[in-house]
Amino acid sequence: MITIALSKGRIFEETTPLLAAAGIRALEDPESSRKLILLTNREDVRLIIVRATDVPTYVQYGAADLGIAGKDVLDEHGGEGMYQPLDLKIAKCKMMVAVREGFDYEASIRQGARLKVVTKYVKAAREHFAAKGMHVDLIKLYGSMELGPLVGLADAIVDLVSTGNTLRANSLKAVEEVGDISSRLIVNQASLKLNRAQLQPILDAFASAIKK
Ligand code: ATP
Ligand code: PRP
Repeated sequence: MITIALSKGRIFEETTPLLAAAGIRALEDPESSRKLILLTNREDVRLIIVRATDVPTYVQYGAADLGIAGKDVLDEHGGEGMYQPLDLKIAKCKMMVAVREGFDYEASIRQGARLKVVTKYVKAAREHFAAKGMHVDLIKLYGSMELGPLVGLADAIVDLVSTGNTLRANSLKAVEEVGDISSRLIVNQASLKLNRAQLQPILDAFASAIKK
């Protein structure tokens, strides 16, 4: 049995066409079903529905053979125990530094101010500011980072931006790019060795279905 770990929402939606290219179709919709293990039209393939942040953990320990996770999540996890053979080019966005609309980010950097930054992506943020030679105090949050600068918890946020609507709705502006984000296929290392005959056709189908 091949187990594929996915999160519901945008990853599940954007993965559905890739799964279809590999001849895999979930028998239930994770948005309406409360089941965490979804059977598919193929007897040898099942899907497990987990939090986006937990996908690499299931693959690392071999509880899932394959998974799909954002580069943001993989970088924070560290990627131990898995290969990342394919950039699926889905769930694309950018990781950005953002501040309140009236805040002069450049000036505060020039003045050598020590900024407080809220983020879910502590590792990526630490590396970004270290590379710029900036001293910052990082505060870990698990969501709604946009609130931080509005209530005095922080000067800046590091978060994902796609349309920019969330920033605009909260009177924030993006000031710096941390990096491009998209989702990757991940494969448990031991599983690839043991089950290559079963896994390789799925990897190949995904590879040919990736949008150019
Ligand atoms: P968790 O439930 O573990 O807290 P989450 O709520 O961030 O995770 P999703 O919102 O489903 O989970 O995001 C899954 C992935 O989609 C993220 O890891 C990221 O790579 C990508 N992503 C997040 N926000 C956007 C966005 N606005 N546009 C495009 N891709 C995004
Ligand atoms: C992500 C991210 C931003 C938003 C950016 O949140 O954390 O808040 O998308 O997208 P935009 O630039 O198109 O507005 P998401 O929608 O995944 O909500 P969640 O983190 O609460 O799951």
